[in-house]
Amino acid sequence: MAILKIARMGHPVLHQVAENVDDPTDVEIAVLVEDMLETLDDAGGIGLAAPQVHVSKRVIIFFVPQGRESEDEEDMPTDLTIMVNPIIEPLSDETNLDWEACLSVPGLMGAVERFSHIKYSWTSLEGKLEEREAKGFHARAVQHECDHLDGKLYPMRMTDFTTFGFVEETNRNIALMRKGHGREIDDHVMEEAQ
Ligand code: NI
Repeated sequence: MAILKIARMGHPVLHQVAENVDDPTDVEIAVLVEDMLETLDDAGGIGLAAPQVHVSKRVIIFFVPQGRESEDEEDMPTDLTIMVNPIIEPLSDETNLDWEACLSVPGLMGAVERFSHIKYSWTSLEGKLEEREAKGFHARAVQHECDHLDGKLYPMRMTDFTTFGFVEETNRNIALMRKGHGREIDDHVMEEAQ
């Protein structure tokens, strides 16, 4: 086991389309996942994709902590999930705008439009095909992580760069907004990175 170095925005590995994993049960993938788990635990985020640790393969780990989900019953906290070769399918055209942060873009956050309701499937480390539906924050986290496998970071999805800023400045603005002053955008403070 090892804590791996996290690639930051600007490193070319973050902008490649990652390779499909031919054999998800390969011990090489199990070792990679062990190292990713240790790295995520050390970095304190909620999700990590293999390209973020300089491995251009379609592997993701993530979880949705208690308290981040919305009231929608399909936006649920989720235990740690290990996904190989994940695929997303939007289940409606509806989108929503909310804050994101990323371990590869440290110190910054921005508002990104994402599909509100998705289905996603993946292969487990045991080689089993799994599938889930997700809404809200859960759906957002999966879309953010899967973007890493296609060489996309969240700023590349942004349309309003006035929402792109340092976490401490932006959170201050959100606090002002709650008191009726700051800039109008959305509801909650971004604490976890992905
Ligand atoms: Ni990220």
